[in-house]
Amino acid sequence: MSEYTVREELKPSGLDGISDAQINDHWGLYTGYVNQSNALHKELEEMRAAGKTASLTYADRRRRFGFEYNGMVLHEYYFAQMKPGVSLDQAPGFKAAVTEQFGSPEAWHEDLVAAAKSRGIGWAIAYYDGTTGQINNHFIQFHENGNVGGFAPLVIVDVWEHAYMVDWKAMGRGDYLAALHKNMNWSIIEARFQAAKSGQIFKRF
Ligand SMILES: [Fe+2]
Repeated sequence: MSEYTVREELKPSGLDGISDAQINDHWGLYTGYVNQSNALHKELEEMRAAGKTASLTYADRRRRFGFEYNGMVLHEYYFAQMKPGVSLDQAPGFKAAVTEQFGSPEAWHEDLVAAAKSRGIGWAIAYYDGTTGQINNHFIQFHENGNVGGFAPLVIVDVWEHAYMVDWKAMGRGDYLAALHKNMNWSIIEARFQAAKSGQIFKRF
């Protein structure tokens, strides 16, 4: 299989209230997930070729696969979604959908922030269920516990402490979430929504 590469074109800079130092630090962690996903793939193939699939080490690496892969993929959605100065009006379809479902975009966002403030490390993700047309906000523990199979991620919020430690320290999750809201690239969120609604796969890069 082909190797994954670090998608430099997704790296944001010049955000409104989130420093480049914070992004650079976080980017280094994302790079690690790309490298580990590649390394794990290689290691699993080697172990299978050597007839070691019944070993405890193989079982452990298999479990680790979901952690590293989701760590890589979720960061790619997350970084691509950060851009300052984009109005929610750039996401008319998404805005109408959350207004219909939650009463207002503010009510949807309040629910997302409530999910994002769940105790523990992980992600808050607004998912689109292509079967029912419903948008649900979910909390994901670590990178891999809580993602819903087949649902399309629309809005992805990293709430690991590393996402805000540089700018706000450990207690700064609320300040970070407020800053992140000012840097939502609503255009890409609309593109994800429209793709999901029409049953298409939205490509991360
Ligand atoms: Fe992260």
